[in-house]
Order: sequence, then C-alpha cells, then structure tokens
Amino acid sequence: MNLKNRDFLKLLDYSTEELNYLLDLSAELKAKKKAGIPHRVCEGKSIALIFEKTSTRTRCAFEVAAADLGMHPTYLDPSGSQIGKKESIADTARVLSRMYDAIEYRGFGQEIVEDLAKYSDVPVYNGLTNEFHPTQILADFLTIKEHCGSDLAGKKLVYMGDARYNMGNSLMVGCAKMGMHFVACAPKKYFPSDELVKECMAVAEETGAVLEFIEDPMVATKGADVIYTDVWVSMGEPDSVWEERIAELSPYQVNKALMDNAGAQCKFMHCLPAFHDLKTTIGKEINAKFGIDCMEVTDEVFESDASIVFDEAENRMHTIKAVIYATLAE
Ligand code: CP
Ligand code: NVA
Repeated sequence: MNLKNRDFLKLLDYSTEELNYLLDLSAELKAKKKAGIPHRVCEGKSIALIFEKTSTRTRCAFEVAAADLGMHPTYLDPSGSQIGKKESIADTARVLSRMYDAIEYRGFGQEIVEDLAKYSDVPVYNGLTNEFHPTQILADFLTIKEHCGSDLAGKKLVYMGDARYNMGNSLMVGCAKMGMHFVACAPKKYFPSDELVKECMAVAEETGAVLEFIEDPMVATKGADVIYTDVWVSMGEPDSVWEERIAELSPYQVNKALMDNAGAQCKFMHCLPAFHDLKTTIGKEINAKFGIDCMEVTDEVFESDASIVFDEAENRMHTIKAVIYATLAE
C-alpha cells in the first residue's frame, strides 16, 4: 500500500482497502507508543497546522503525533496569520509548501481545503470543514474495532441529531466504505443532502453497506452497536439557531431510555466537545435561557460504562499519526 504524498481531504477519496490500511497502521503505532518503542520516521520534517476554528483534540493530536514522528509543528491560530484576510489560500499554499512537508487545515467550506491542496506541493490534511471531518472517523472506527470487534462490516451505527453537517456526513461516508449499517436519525430536514446520499449509496452497492434515514428514535436505535451524537449547533453557525435546534432536536437526545432500547451491547460515542452538564460557559447560558441542563446527551449516558468517548478522543492522536506516517515517511 503506497499512500505517499496523498492528501487526506475526505473519505470519499480513499478506498476501503486504503482506509483499512490506515486503521491497521493506527493500531500498530498505538501499540508502539504504549510499549515505548520510538518511531521517529519523519525526523527533520515539519508540518503547518492552520486553525480557522478553535480546537482541543485535533490540534493536540497533530502536535503530539508530529512530535512522536520527529517532526516540527507550527500552529497558526484562528486570528494570528494573514490567511484569508491579506493573503489568498492559493498564495498561502505556495508559501507554506516551500517551508513545510505537510499542511493541516481546519476551517469553513470544504472547497477551501480542496483549493489549498490544489495549490500545495505537499500533502494537505482536512482537520474539519463544515462538510467533513475525516480524521475523526478514523479515530471513531479504531475505537469501534477495539470495543465491538475488529470486523466493522455489518456493525450498526446510529447517528442522532444534525446529520447533514460534518459528523453526520463523514460517518455516513465512512460506514458506506466499510460495509457498515448506518442510520441517520433526525427530523427529515436534518438528513444528509440527496447528492451525498446518492454517492454513498453507490459506494454501499460495492461494499454491502446499508444506509437508512429514520425519524423515529426508538425504531432507529433498536439493536445498535453504537449510538453516536454531536453538538446541535456547530462552530461557525450563528447563535440565532439555538432556539430552533433545541426545539427540533430535543426528541433526539441520547438518554438512558434510548440506550436501553438499543440493548446492552450498545456503546455511546461523541466526537466531543459535548454539552452533557452545566460546567461550560455555553452550557450555563443555554440553561439560563432555555432551562435545560444538558443537550445532545444526558450526563448519565455520558458518564456511563457504555460511553467510550475518551478512548475515542485518545485515538485521534494514533489515527492522525497514521495519516502523517503513511503520506510522509520514507
Ligand atoms: N473532535 C474534535 O475535532 O475536537 P476539537 O474540536 O477539540 O478538535
Ligand atoms: N459538528 C461539530 C464538530 C466538532 C468536532 C462542529 O463543527 O463544531
């Protein structure tokens, strides 16, 4: 398998075999890290990390992965560079390609990271756009393999909530690629776009994946191996949408009744950050305005034994390392 110099912009660009290779490599690198075996295979190389939106996991995962591989990372924060304001993406790409061996980009439209890749001479990795979050899915699938069995084919993953944004879209593509059973559970208007569904259906025909779109949470979650959710309002969306989202997505909250309905085998996953208590500024503001003490998931489920969210968060680092390794190492 040779992924040298490839961009990692969206899962649709990768075959099932290539994704399996990245997941196997992630597991191998995780074992090496745990055993204290050095793997500085990118010694002397460097990576630029562009963040036009905030981040905890993705930034830290890239920085630690780069350091473990012997690389030098540079973090460009949402306000501290010329990008977009004084300098175009095309010019930025050509400048950074002269100094760095790879570029990570987190920002708004998918077309921006695609443009960055077009003008870059080095691999570009998507660290989250409005449409896709592909490195997150690698971490999610490694975590599912660890907790639910190594064969992903046939595993049922139910995504609750805003299924037309980066997480719902990417999970649908990932599940289609891996021959899984994906269910988007939301009011109809939150289903992924017809265009993306069509692309994924074509992939599913090849892999045997099943893709379903169901409005009733109790019907959707029966027998699920994983119930997955994400915030109801994503980064970059206006505050004015909170009221509507809370009204429309509250019936899709992941709570104990839903987990019980799925069955004892069911795990809870979330890309994080999550609104499950009142220990955040936004959580407190929403509580004061709407009187609710959690949103997409209850604290009870988040803190339960079925919740594998912190293994999932750790796996961001091992899987991002595999992407860098596969595309850069000699
Ligand atoms: N899951 C995820 O991408 O987290 P951050 O926003 O903290 O990077
Ligand atoms: N949908 C969320 C994902 C965060 C990792 C957002 O875009 O804010």
